[in-house]
Amino acid sequence: MSGSGLVLVGARGTGKSTVGRLVADRLGHRFIDVDDEIEAAVGLSIPEIFSTLGESAFRDAEEDAIRALTELDESIVLATGGGAVVRPSNRERLKRFGLAVWLKAEPMVLGERLLFDASSGKLRPSLTGLGAIAEIEAVLEARREYYQDVAGLVVDTTGIKPVEVADAVLRAFEGAERWIAP
Ligand code: S3P
Repeated sequence: MSGSGLVLVGARGTGKSTVGRLVADRLGHRFIDVDDEIEAAVGLSIPEIFSTLGESAFRDAEEDAIRALTELDESIVLATGGGAVVRPSNRERLKRFGLAVWLKAEPMVLGERLLFDASSGKLRPSLTGLGAIAEIEAVLEARREYYQDVAGLVVDTTGIKPVEVADAVLRAFEGAERWIAP
């Protein structure tokens, strides 16, 4: 729903899906994870899309999903994949959609969370071929300006529980809603 949506952006492992679910529950809005929509649309898991179709096919599917989801006539909370901000058209759509919250964390913390996710079955394809921490740092360096471009709020999640991050996001979103529709 244009202008009044809430979308979480940020690197892998920042807790976008966990926080997005908490925030959506508290608002009574539907939560949608863009990566889940891509997997359903393509009929393959994210690692399979990368390995069989390649990253650029994944980015096309991601752009299609973001276009469709940001045009829904319904209040939703969106969690995007870490690379959703790379294409300018996605950034424009996400900005028009509503409040974009950039979740950040220290690279070491992200590395630990990604290891934990991998051990519980959530696998992520390598984006650079570098080791874990070097990849996190390189990708963040390349994308920082894009996150800055879309974000209306930045929350550093280092050492903060998801429920506390959700509280900060809700406070900002409720303030923004009043500003848009007093
Ligand atoms: C990606 C992040 C992933 C997923 C894909 C690519 C990226 O999402 O979209 O593996 O380019 O950073 P998460 O941030 O939810 O892990």
